[in-house]
Parts: sequence; structure tokens; C-alpha cells
Amino acid sequence: MPDVFLDPRLPDYVVEHDWKQVAANVESSRKVVSDFLSEKICTLHGYDLSALDFEFLSTVTLPQTWQMKKFKFKQLISEAENTKGNHDLYEFVLKEGFRDDRERLNRFIDQLRHLRAIADEIAGRLLADVKVENTIYISRFSETRLENMHFDIDVDSDNHDSFRLYINLDRAPRNWETSYQLTELLKRGGSRLVGDFDDAWPSERILERTTTRAFGGWNQRATERKAPRHVLFFDPGDIWLVDGRCVSHQVVTGHRVLSIYGRMAHEDNPGLGPTFAQKLRTALAEGRRVPIGSETAEVGYYSKEQITSPGSLKDNWADVYGRTGTGRVRKYTDAGMQA
Ligand SMILES: [Fe+2]
Repeated sequence: MPDVFLDPRLPDYVVEHDWKQVAANVESSRKVVSDFLSEKICTLHGYDLSALDFEFLSTVTLPQTWQMKKFKFKQLISEAENTKGNHDLYEFVLKEGFRDDRERLNRFIDQLRHLRAIADEIAGRLLADVKVENTIYISRFSETRLENMHFDIDVDSDNHDSFRLYINLDRAPRNWETSYQLTELLKRGGSRLVGDFDDAWPSERILERTTTRAFGGWNQRATERKAPRHVLFFDPGDIWLVDGRCVSHQVVTGHRVLSIYGRMAHEDNPGLGPTFAQKLRTALAEGRRVPIGSETAEVGYYSKEQITSPGSLKDNWADVYGRTGTGRVRKYTDAGMQA
């Protein structure tokens, strides 16, 4: 289970749940969802992952590309199972990740089938009461290192809530740091943070502005140091849920991980709440009432000019997060990696 090093300047929003209780009792599974919707990081212990071969999985490395960061593995399984149709992903993974070794790739796909069954069971149980439009399973078998502190951004955040669950598939801990919950940040950041935000903006725009004003652009990861942080080490096999739109976070280092994403539309789930949009807008109104000079959130308060994010994370992914182990020191500033 995770080691959590708490920063006293932040509330302790990490809670534990037990899978056996969740599986046996609908009230327990509802409590997980309600904690999740209350800006908590929920850990889930006691789930049997013995079908997974961590030793073998730790030998699988896929290319350090944006496509492989967002690797939707159900497609790979279906390409492996269907003789007809295109097999582009299968062939790509075979070549780039398995050096044309079909036996190893098939062993990997067999592990992905176990992962699919695990994800189906956990998501099915936790989301039994909820109508989920779209469930996406993503496995990452590439490295992530030192993201900038951020909130996840989803388009159309006013009309749905998001379910996000992670399982560390690596043999080493996955290291995260987390900072303010969204509502806490808006309230404590006050007018200095949100004073010029327009209430008519969609939620994701408000969230995006909050992120960059508090923590800077994505490439300012080496320079943003003001925010207090909890430090979390998720062990191999740890399972946790968090709405990344509501708890600011950064991966410091991690390799193999499974993530499950579910989109819960409000029109299909009228009882769901408090919704992301409600939480955000209530806290925004409260933040506006805090005059400049009275803010208490310890963040960067980056001005527009100070927010530097040249290029696109998608296009620059391999440069920023890949090509490691060069035998050279690489130095980063606000402008990105130095030549
Ligand atoms: Fe994120």
C-alpha cells in the first residue's frame, strides 16, 4: 500500500477502502464513489492481482511516444483475436516493443486479457449505480518523469463527471506528488488567482487558467516549487482512484500503469453530485470574495507573460520525456530542455 508523506499545509485527503467490503456491500462501493467525488484520493486494498505476472510485465517496454502513453489496449486484444480487418497496432507493437517476437507479444496480450477482466470487475462494481457512457482502459508501458503540477483537463466538463482509477503495474513504486484540491485552491487563491476569470467560461477553461496561473505551463515543471506537496509512493499492485480535475498532481517518476477512465454524463445521472461544475463554480464565487492581498494559497500566481508553454506536449513528448540515458546531463529551464 502507498507510503504517503503529508505536508501539514495541505489537508489529508488520502483515504483507504477495502475491496472485500466494496465487493460485498453496495454501501461500501457507494462510499468509494462519494469520496472520489469529494476530491479525495481513494486507495483500494485487498484486490487479488495474482493473475498478473509482474516479473514478465516488468520486461515489457513500449516506445516513448505520445501514442504509447495513451495506449488503448482493448484494440490490441481485438486485433490479435480477429483474422480480418487491419492489424496496424498489433504490427506496430510487435515491431517496436517486441522485436518481432510473437510469442512474447502473445504472452503480453494474455496479460492484457487479465487486466481487462480486472478492470471490468473493479469498474463494474464501483460504477454499478452509475450510467457510464464510455469506459476507456489505457495501459502505459513507457516512462513518465517529472510532469508539471497540474489538474487534468477534460472537454465539456460542465456536463459530465469523470471516473479515473489507476493500478501500478511496475515492480517499482510509482511516485506522485499532489498539492491543493481544486476548491481549496480557488478559495484560498482568492481574487489574485481568479479575479479576472469570466463566469461565462466553460469549466475546463476556468480549470486550465487556474492550473497555469497557479503552477505555470507544462514545461515549467523544473521551476514551479512554491506549492506544498504530499509525496506518495504507490507500490506495485496498488490501486487508487482520483479525479485529476479536482486534485492537483504530478507524476515524478513511474513506468508501467493501468488507468481506467469512465465518462458519467449528468443527463444520464441526475442523482450524481456534487458535480465537478458545481464544486468549481461554488468555490470560484467564494474565491472572488477574498480581496487581493488576503490570499493564502502558496502557489506561483503566474502572470500571462510568465506562463511559458512553447510547442505542444503531444508533438514534443519524445523530446521531453524520451531519449533518456544519453550519458549526458540534460538541463531544463522555463524554455524547455537546453541544447
Ligand atoms: Fe494528470
